[in-house]
Amino acid sequence: MQSLFRILSVSTTHIPLPLLTPVLFFSFLLLLFLQWSHPKHKRLPPGSMGWPYIGETLRLYTENPNSFFSNRQKRYGDIFKTHILGCPCVMISSPEAAKTVLVSQAHLFKPTYPPSKEKMIGPEAIFFHQGAYHSRLKKLVQASFLPTAIRGSVSEIEKIVLKFLPTWENCTINTLQEMKKYAFDVAMFSAMKARKLLNETLTKLIKKRRESSKEGGGGLLEVLLSAKDQKLNHLSDCQIADNIIGVIFAAHDTTASVLTWVLKYLHDNEPLLEAVTREQEEIRRRLIEANHSLEWKDTRRMPLTSRVIQETLRTASILSFTFREAVQDVEFQGYVIPRGWKVLPLFRTIHHSQDFFPQPEKFDPSRFEVPPRPYTYMPFGNGVHSCPGSELAKLEMLVLLHHLTTTYRWKVAGNEDGIQYGPFPVPKKGLPINVYPRKKK
Ligand code: HEM
Repeated sequence: MQSLFRILSVSTTHIPLPLLTPVLFFSFLLLLFLQWSHPKHKRLPPGSMGWPYIGETLRLYTENPNSFFSNRQKRYGDIFKTHILGCPCVMISSPEAAKTVLVSQAHLFKPTYPPSKEKMIGPEAIFFHQGAYHSRLKKLVQASFLPTAIRGSVSEIEKIVLKFLPTWENCTINTLQEMKKYAFDVAMFSAMKARKLLNETLTKLIKKRRESSKEGGGGLLEVLLSAKDQKLNHLSDCQIADNIIGVIFAAHDTTASVLTWVLKYLHDNEPLLEAVTREQEEIRRRLIEANHSLEWKDTRRMPLTSRVIQETLRTASILSFTFREAVQDVEFQGYVIPRGWKVLPLFRTIHHSQDFFPQPEKFDPSRFEVPPRPYTYMPFGNGVHSCPGSELAKLEMLVLLHHLTTTYRWKVAGNEDGIQYGPFPVPKKGLPINVYPRKKK
């Protein structure tokens, strides 16, 4: 910039006076342009940073979070800035922007969590990492929860369901609390199985490495294992423990909250409940005929029940958004996101957009008869940090719904309507219900 001033000041001495004004004027415009195009001076997204220090935190907590996000989106568009929980943030609510942050430019946006969560779960857990250690762990965790790995777990999950259901009969239960117990038991069982698989995989890996280093090795395995980062060579007990705790933590509150919503939506929509029951009864009938218990392949024949789960994940959007942090100044759709700022892809706002889901407030599982457009439906996130437990979560919901709908009915106790947050949005008071045996028609 200084050199530009120098050039301008020298050259003006040789310009005739009548030309001086337009030259100065255009030089001024050029300066403005250069300033503007330099990343440091690029525009921040529109929006309000609220009050000094507290920003808009009070507003977020006093307004309903849904309206907090959607009011700002209406006012400023799909990308806007704000300041919450002591951090400057950029909130994004377009599928394209979510794709950039979570997938195509994911390396520029690292996951970020409050220190309290890191302390509670353990710093080595998968959520808090990026790069080589993360992708190594992710492969191991994912392998434990792929359909091929969990298809043999149906009978174990069914046992857990059949242990819980009779304890609800003719009782008033707190749906959320009971679903938490159920999801916790499934998570414990799956995490222990995963731990075994993890150990086996690692033992095999180390054995292979020894063999390949004798032979000169090569390939991806060798690259991974010969990396300088010791974290890649083996997982310590501490790393394994943090990840087991992490999986249990990620698995049970989320699944329990979604199941609570499924029961609420089915309760509020009797024809839908009856249609789901017919689908499940048909499976039951075939199982009785074949003298079989529920298997993986039966859970693949539940299209309506699966769509009810999909629509619940959309409508309830229990993870309203996720957090990332810009690792450097990032130019983003004509704006700059400064290094250190939080970036929040707003899943709920996208899931409730009229453009992608007509009549978004209506609970309508049939909308999933056609697949949603890319990046408009992300209940399990997307990209490198997407949820490795999505198949397990769906499976445990299907198994529970199979037995619940064919054997029981439930009535919401009291007339408490509304939502509470703890930490995920759930029906008020955790949805107390009376459960009673279903009268077969
Ligand atoms: C309906 C239930 C569930 C929902 C809605 C859900 C949702 C999500 C979402 C949105 C993410 C991505 C977060 C981000 O990008 O910042 C995630 C990550 C994760 N989920 Fe789930 N989840 C569920 C169940 C489970 C289950 C059952 C497991 C255990 C097997 C699990 C394990 C994880 C783990 C380990 C991560 C971190 C992945 C990473 O950082 O690479 N989740 N989940």
